[in-house]
Amino acid sequence: MADNKIIDGKLVAETMKKEIAAEVAAMLDKGLSAPHLAAVLVGDDGASITYVNSKEKACRSVGMTSSVYRLPEKSTEEDVLKIVDFLNNDDEIDGYIVQLPLPSHINENKIIQSIKPTKDVDGFTLHNIGLMQIGEPCYLPATPFGILELLKRSNVKTEGKHVVVMGRSNIVGTPVSVMLSRKGADATVTICHSKTQNLKEITRQADILIVAIGQPEFVKADMVKDGAVVVDVGIHRIKDNSEKGYHIVGDVDYKDVYEKVSKITPVPGGVGPMTIVSLLHNTLLAAKKNRK
Ligand code: GUN
Repeated sequence: MADNKIIDGKLVAETMKKEIAAEVAAMLDKGLSAPHLAAVLVGDDGASITYVNSKEKACRSVGMTSSVYRLPEKSTEEDVLKIVDFLNNDDEIDGYIVQLPLPSHINENKIIQSIKPTKDVDGFTLHNIGLMQIGEPCYLPATPFGILELLKRSNVKTEGKHVVVMGRSNIVGTPVSVMLSRKGADATVTICHSKTQNLKEITRQADILIVAIGQPEFVKADMVKDGAVVVDVGIHRIKDNSEKGYHIVGDVDYKDVYEKVSKITPVPGGVGPMTIVSLLHNTLLAAKKNRK
């Protein structure tokens, strides 16, 4: 029997992929070229390689084309800026991402702010962040957009709700807080972080608790209100004695909180698939603008 407590991100992402694939097919039928997403990957960080591979596979699954620009770990800032300049000016590329983190000798912000805003499908440039802040059309960052879409499509209303966001990163915590407080989402938002005092008292007030802190199984049952909706953005590989040698957990202790929540996103299969499909959504938007 289906467990209606579980917010199935994988299923929702599949539905969105079908919608996107239909739009791509319609473009091809009109004789237009497929949307093209490029990725820049510097170095050999295992997680980054996995993410970029998943993004390429997702592109193929909806009929989009993709390319990956791989640079060695020891590349200089100038090397990366050269690729960024090339991608900014290549009309065949609708949008691209620079996979983070970059090696520590490269100024990440300098690279990100060199991306042409009209190709910034990650929504990381100041231009897109500014538009998001004032509620104007823009490329919204993939994970926050994915979270809002997942809540919407799972019939979780945010209007007037108290949303507590744990974590204030530029990629998730900060933008999701802004987006949820804007007109349309209309939530009351509290942001918690590593210096927050009386954390439990605050998280226990949440109608919707969004956890993006990068700490395995940090959130326990005593931090969650009865009937709360919990969104777990974390993803961690924990070594074990299983055949695979590891298992995956989130930032939330799923088993501990399960009885208390009204709904929860699992890890894996919750927010993760939504992030990738959101990037496809932005790439489709970029391609539609370019083919007008
Ligand atoms: N590293 C972790 N998440 C992301 C993301 O959403 N975009 C990019 N470019 N890098 C990441």
